[in-house]
Amino acid sequence: MYQSKIAGLGSYVPENVVTNDDLSKLMDTNDAWIQERTGIKERRHIKKGDGNSTSVMGFKAAKIAIERAKISKDDIDLIVFATLSPDLYFPGCGVMVQELLGINNTCPAIDVRDQCSGFVYAISVADQFIKTGMYKNVLVIGSENHSGGLDFSDRGRSISVIFGDGAGAAVLTRSNHIGQGILSTHLHSEGKHVMELSQKGPSTEYWVPQIIADNPQGDDIPYYPYMNGPFVFKHAITRFTEVILEGLKANGLEIDDINMLIPHQANLRISQFIQQKLKLSDDQVFNNIQKYGNTTAASIPIALTEAWEQGKIKDGDTVVLAAFGSGFTWGSVIMEW
Ligand code: ACO
Repeated sequence: MYQSKIAGLGSYVPENVVTNDDLSKLMDTNDAWIQERTGIKERRHIKKGDGNSTSVMGFKAAKIAIERAKISKDDIDLIVFATLSPDLYFPGCGVMVQELLGINNTCPAIDVRDQCSGFVYAISVADQFIKTGMYKNVLVIGSENHSGGLDFSDRGRSISVIFGDGAGAAVLTRSNHIGQGILSTHLHSEGKHVMELSQKGPSTEYWVPQIIADNPQGDDIPYYPYMNGPFVFKHAITRFTEVILEGLKANGLEIDDINMLIPHQANLRISQFIQQKLKLSDDQVFNNIQKYGNTTAASIPIALTEAWEQGKIKDGDTVVLAAFGSGFTWGSVIMEW
């Protein structure tokens, strides 16, 4: 039995900064409402013509992670790509990144569809392959192009202000020291809440008949995401806390042992609620939703990369990743850095 560790991290966000004031020019919203409800001050959006897409941003983040891991692109044995906003309905973004990186081997590529929990699920998948000894180096990516699929009219304002574009990546590699690296991962889902945070798409039963009925002209396609905000909030704060405690208990750790918690950047109010509930200090929790909004599968790897770049994660630290999102799905990763 082997153990995996993070050998390299990278992130990428588009240059185009969209402030709350910018959004208020498109819809009936304002900086005060957005900051009070979500903590978000600005986010990044892909700009037409800037060359970015979900796979391209994932590739840019992956390139940095591979360089920092000090391996060659051809040492990658597996790609795991988490996104809810793929470039194409099929195939997935994993194979696109393989091509963009110019990987010369025929390593497999898996796309993970677990929304805000996508990166935690993807890390868990990667960890299993390394643990069994099947693979040595796994590239894990979370990337989202939300701005291409949001309703920026008044109708979509409670959702559109929350999300941003970006990507983060990690290279997981076999650890030479047992006890260092990923200690355990914990995954859950509860499908009865599918519709509380969801988006209808090209293969939903609803889609074909309803799209014709709703849009005889085909000019107002109802493909935007739906979120029952208060319901999501209530479940998120419960599940986040539960799954962090579950992970700590599995490793004989206490809340005080956490050196750094990187929660999925859903909403600053959710992160602050978890922090208060677990009685964690400001130094023990990393948030950057203020700058990037909620980037779904990309939020944890972007935050983890920034925390590491800022020297906030040191060798020997207990680092906890935790996520909750559409599905509902949720999970945690407990690591010794
Ligand atoms: N700007 C200004 N006013 C707005 C906006 C906006 N962007 N959006 C909604 N409003 C108005 C509404 O029309 C409503 O007005 P009314 O009282 O006159 O009818 C009022 O603000 C309150 O609307 P609600 O939809 O009830 O807003 P709420 O206070 O619930 O806040 C929010 C919405 C921020 C989404 C909240 O429900 C929440 O924090 N939910 C948690 C879920 C979450 O953050 N998810 C993140 C993504 S999912 C994930 O990552 C897991």
